[in-house]
Amino acid sequence: MTQRHVTIGAPAETAAHYEDLVNRHGSPLLVYDPAVVRQRYAELQRALPGVSLYYAVKALPSAHVIRTIDALGGGFDIASGGETELLLREDVFGRRTIHTHPIKKDAEIRSALRYGATTFVVDNDYELTKFVPYRSRVGILLRVSFRASGAAVDLSRKFGCAFDELPGLLDRAAALGIHVKGLSFHVGSQCADAAKHVEAIEQCAALMQARAETDPTPMSVLDIGGGFPAAYHRTGLDLEAWCAPVRAALGRVPDDWQCIAEPGRVLVAPAVTCVTTVVGTSRRDGVRWYYLDDGVYGSFSGQLFDHAVYPLQVLREGPVEPSILAGPTCDSIDIVAEQIALPELEPGDLVIGHEMGAYTAATRTRFNLLPDAQFISLEPA
Ligand SMILES: Cc1ncc(COP(=O)(O)O)c(C=O)c1O
Repeated sequence: MTQRHVTIGAPAETAAHYEDLVNRHGSPLLVYDPAVVRQRYAELQRALPGVSLYYAVKALPSAHVIRTIDALGGGFDIASGGETELLLREDVFGRRTIHTHPIKKDAEIRSALRYGATTFVVDNDYELTKFVPYRSRVGILLRVSFRASGAAVDLSRKFGCAFDELPGLLDRAAALGIHVKGLSFHVGSQCADAAKHVEAIEQCAALMQARAETDPTPMSVLDIGGGFPAAYHRTGLDLEAWCAPVRAALGRVPDDWQCIAEPGRVLVAPAVTCVTTVVGTSRRDGVRWYYLDDGVYGSFSGQLFDHAVYPLQVLREGPVEPSILAGPTCDSIDIVAEQIALPELEPGDLVIGHEMGAYTAATRTRFNLLPDAQFISLEPA
């Protein structure tokens, strides 16, 4: 199991900041800092110059984040009618989105078209035929499967055609009169390194160039998906170094291609901090248990769905002993952390979860009808 990073104690100013937030807004909280998204976005742009960034809305479908990305001039990767509606409410033009879900109902395609989306992702023959009625209005990206073994979340098992299926799908699209404008892939989320991105870029680029010799409307879009990691281990994330091989591989593709990426986690994970409160304690079989007001059915849902291990922090210092942090529901899988060394905590003490923006609020449930952690922004809307 991945080791969890735990910080004991905090500078007085930091502790006062969290305590003040809870005094003003209550607990639990998800505290969003737009400045962090702006910083990450700029870092990613510097690391991948010339690559158009489409924020993967699924990572944190919040109006606050949409506004931050919108103000930066970024694009949006959407995958459902709900995500489309969120962008509509925020007055984002459909032209600034790509619809990346490879499997869609016809109603979903129609509503995305009405919204103004024109780029859609497809990974099989049946899905291609769904676009015949709309072929004059769309450009398709064919999604191909490349699986990074070191990714925390495998996104190519369920989607993406095999590489050797691409020529057949391209021929089929041509026969149906559907314009395939490029290729896309997602090698998996939270990738340890960029080796699979590089392999995927090289293979896709070679195929696109080979086809360009005969296709009357050659492909010119290469979508490299997401997968850029968050720093769950608190070791610092050198995004520039992580992206260097990707940048080099993209430097070898023709200048007139449009290269795009769909980053989710890397932009929002560090931008949200979860603030929870100890509401009860007990000692069971000699081990201290602390019951929090948020857990794996709530903001920590990513520990189950996303395989994430969030760094934790307690504000109090003192001699430590093995402890368990449990969530508020009646279910015994609702454990946030086991066997972590903590000082003695008291009801009312705060426990802070860091790097909690991606796939947290997005996947929480209402089990026990417990209220969601309130989402607040450090900047006015
Ligand atoms: C199609 C697609 N694009 C982008 C993303 C975002 O990936 P990440 O959070 O790894 O950047 C996902 C994640 O599920 C996805 O399915």
